[in-house]
Amino acid sequence: MAIQFLFFFFLISLYLYIFFLRSKSRVKTLGFRSYPIVGSLPDFLRNRHRFLDWSTEVLSSCPTNSAVFHRPGKVNGVIHANPQLVEHMLKSNFDNYPKGVRFRTLLQDFLGGGIFNTDGELWKIQRKTASYEFNTKSLRNFVMENVTVELQKRLIPILLTAAEEERVLDAQDLLERFAFDNICKLAFNVDPGCLGGDGTAGAGFMQAFEDAATLSSGRFMYALPRLYVIKKFFNLGSERKLRNSIATVYDFADRIISTRMEEKSEKKEEDLLSRFIGNGENSVEYLRDIVISFILAGRDTTSSALSWFFWLLSSKPDVEETIIQELDKIRRRSGKNIGDMFTFDELREMHYLQASISEAMRLYPPVPVDTKACNEDDILPDGTFIGKDWFITYHTYAMGRMVSIWGEDCCEYKPERWIENGICKQESPFKFPVFHAGPRMCLGKDMAYIQMKSIAASVLERFTFDVLMEKGKCPEHLLSLTLRMKGGLPVKVKKRIV
Ligand code: HEM
Repeated sequence: MAIQFLFFFFLISLYLYIFFLRSKSRVKTLGFRSYPIVGSLPDFLRNRHRFLDWSTEVLSSCPTNSAVFHRPGKVNGVIHANPQLVEHMLKSNFDNYPKGVRFRTLLQDFLGGGIFNTDGELWKIQRKTASYEFNTKSLRNFVMENVTVELQKRLIPILLTAAEEERVLDAQDLLERFAFDNICKLAFNVDPGCLGGDGTAGAGFMQAFEDAATLSSGRFMYALPRLYVIKKFFNLGSERKLRNSIATVYDFADRIISTRMEEKSEKKEEDLLSRFIGNGENSVEYLRDIVISFILAGRDTTSSALSWFFWLLSSKPDVEETIIQELDKIRRRSGKNIGDMFTFDELREMHYLQASISEAMRLYPPVPVDTKACNEDDILPDGTFIGKDWFITYHTYAMGRMVSIWGEDCCEYKPERWIENGICKQESPFKFPVFHAGPRMCLGKDMAYIQMKSIAASVLERFTFDVLMEKGKCPEHLLSLTLRMKGGLPVKVKKRIV
C-alpha cells in the first residue's frame, strides 16, 4: 500500500510540474473576438463549491452572456446562458454538438451506453425504442394507475401518520422514493416498494444511487482533469466509493433484468424494458445501462423540481393560496371531495399549478447545466469562436437569472409571469431549456408534469409543510447530475384546515 501511495504522489507531482510548464506558455486569448476569459485555476478552485452561482455572476457580466472556460489538460470550452446559442447547438447544428468523448468517458462507469451517454446510431435506436413508451395512451395509463396508487397507498398515509405523530420528514427523500417506485413500475414493470411501509425501505440502494450520481458528476470538477484516472487505478478515496456504489446499483439493475427475462414468456403487456429485451439480441450489460439511465431520468428530476417547489412555496403563502383556490374550483366543478383523485383532464386544467412548478424549475432547474462537445471549429451566433474538441455548456440555472431573458425581476419567484389569459403559456425551449431542446429533447416532459401536478395537488390540498430551515436562506446545493438540496428538505407536516 505504501508503494502505491508513493507512486500516486509521484504521478501527481509529475502532473503538476507538466501543467505549470505548459500554463506558462499558454496563449492568453483563445478567441476570434474579444470576450472575457473565465476559469483561471485559482478562480475556479475558490468558487468550485458555489460553481452555479459563481458562473452565473460571470455570465451575467459578459456582453452576450457567454464566456470561454480554460482549464489545464486541454479542457477548453464555452459556457453560456444565451437562447440563440442554445438553439444553435441543440437544434440548428445538432450534428456538430454531440455528447462527445469527454462527457461519455467521465460518465461511462455509471451510465455505460445508456441513452444519456450515447451518440449516433446507438442513441437513435434507444430513442426510437423508448419513444413508444411516451405516447399519450401510455401517459394516461401511467397517471391513472401508477401515480394514483403510489399516492393513495403510500405517500398520503405516510404524511397522515407523520402529521399525527408530529414527526419531521425529509420531503426530498420521500419524493425521490416516490419517483423511483414510479419509474420502475412504468419502465420495467417492477415495484421496488421504496415508499412502502414507513417510507424507508431500500435505503442502501437509494444511497448508492445518489453517491454514484454525485461522485460521477464530481469528475467534471477536478482541477486536474485526469486525476480521477489515477485515483481510480489505485482505488482511492472518492473513486473507491464510486466503484462500490456502482456495484450496488448494478446489482439492483441486474436483478430487475434477470427477473424480467425469466418472466418474458408470461408477460403480455409491453413496457420499456421488454421492448429492449425484444428477441434477446441485447446483452445484459446493455440492458443494465438502459435501466440505469431511465432510473436517473425518472427518479432524480421530478423529485428535485418538487423539492425546490415546496421550499419556494414555504415563503410564498399567496402563491400557495392561489393554488388551493384553483384546486377548489376544479373540485367544485366536477362535484368531487378532497381525497378523490384528480383525473388526467382535471390535471391539465391546473394552469396556475403548472405555472408555479415551471417557475420553480426556471430558478432551480433539475438539470442545471448540460454539456456537449464540438466536432468541428465553429463560430457561434454571438461571434464567439469554438474549437474542435472544445466543450460547450448551456447553463440553464444561469439562464433563469438573466435580466436579458426574463427582465429585471428575473430572480423573483412569480408564477404569474407564465399566465396569459388564464392559461399557462408554453415558453420557447431555447429560452427555457429545462427539458433540453431539439432532437434530444426530454422524452418524459409531459409525463413529468402530470406526475408533479398530481403529487403537488394531492399533497397541498390535504397538508401544509413547515419547512425547518432558516427563513430566507437558500438551501445549499448538492451539485450532482441533478440539482439537489444538501441535507434534504426537513419538513413538519400538518393537516390543512379547510
Ligand atoms: C422535471 C422533470 C424532468 C426534467 C427537468 C428533465 C430534463 C431533461 C433534460 C435536460 C434532458 C437532456 C439531458 C441530456 O442532455 O442528455 C432530458 C433527457 C431525457 N429525459 Fe428528461 N427530464 C425530466 C423528467 C423525465 C422523466 C420523468 C423521464 C422518463 C421517465 C425522462 C426521460 C428522459 C429521457 C429518456 C431523456 C433522453 C433523451 C435523449 O437523449 O434523446 N425525463 N431530460
